[in-house]
Amino acid sequence: MKKINLPTHIGIILDGNGRWAIKHSLPRLAGHEEGARAIKRMLIASKKFGIKAVSVFAFSTENWKRPKEEVDGIFKILEKQIDENFQDFINGGFKLQISGNLNALETPLKTKIEKLLKESENNTKLIFNVCLNYGGRAEIVDACNKIIKSKVKNVDEKTFESFLQSSNLPPLDFVIRTSGEQRISNFMLWQIAYAELYFPNFFWPQFNEKKLVKCLKEYSKRSRRFGGLTQEKK
Ligand code: IPE
Ligand code: IPE
Ligand code: MG
Repeated sequence: MKKINLPTHIGIILDGNGRWAIKHSLPRLAGHEEGARAIKRMLIASKKFGIKAVSVFAFSTENWKRPKEEVDGIFKILEKQIDENFQDFINGGFKLQISGNLNALETPLKTKIEKLLKESENNTKLIFNVCLNYGGRAEIVDACNKIIKSKVKNVDEKTFESFLQSSNLPPLDFVIRTSGEQRISNFMLWQIAYAELYFPNFFWPQFNEKKLVKCLKEYSKRSRRFGGLTQEKK
């Protein structure tokens, strides 16, 4: 790929697992399984292109409304992914980070996530921030409650941000939502403020390196002004 402007931090609202499965006459959980494999393809390709951080929306605080069988199945798939890819993840230089509340998860899964968090904490190639049992509004309200309990008396944007779970990450440059739906569904509301948004039509399980290139080409065409004026092209 010739040199193009790349985002530092990409957000992905991975959507369309269920519709992909239905299209292939498979149960919805088969869509989530292929979706998990697509996450692996995405991570490998993102690292290859030098992306420094990717936040994915894996399970929202609203997703508990789904049938128990599907919810349990999603967490089983997650656990299997960790079991199968634990060492490759660490050896690949990926650092895991979690946004959201892990306390609602069953202990074995929580323990595995915590182990991977710990063992990957010094990795620097790519930060993989998984939004799990996550809601953007809940994250903002949690930050407010932490501030109330802290010694901080005055809050500006920078201070506020430091109380968010992903305060170590740069703002989102680029948000991709697959499956053609054009909404944010409570994903990283604070961090999204100036992100470029992209809503490709393909379903998440179809994601691969080629699709990432397509997304990055789209990003490189955007003119980011942040309220200012376009830079003259030299
Ligand atoms: C995204 O795929 C995965 C999760 C929300 C966990 P969906 O399961 O939402 O797929 P669709 O929208 O039903 O196709
Ligand atoms: C958003 O997808 C949440 C995740 C990707 C985890 P949904 O499929 O749950 O969103 P809605 O309900 O269509 O907005
Ligand atoms: Mg969906």
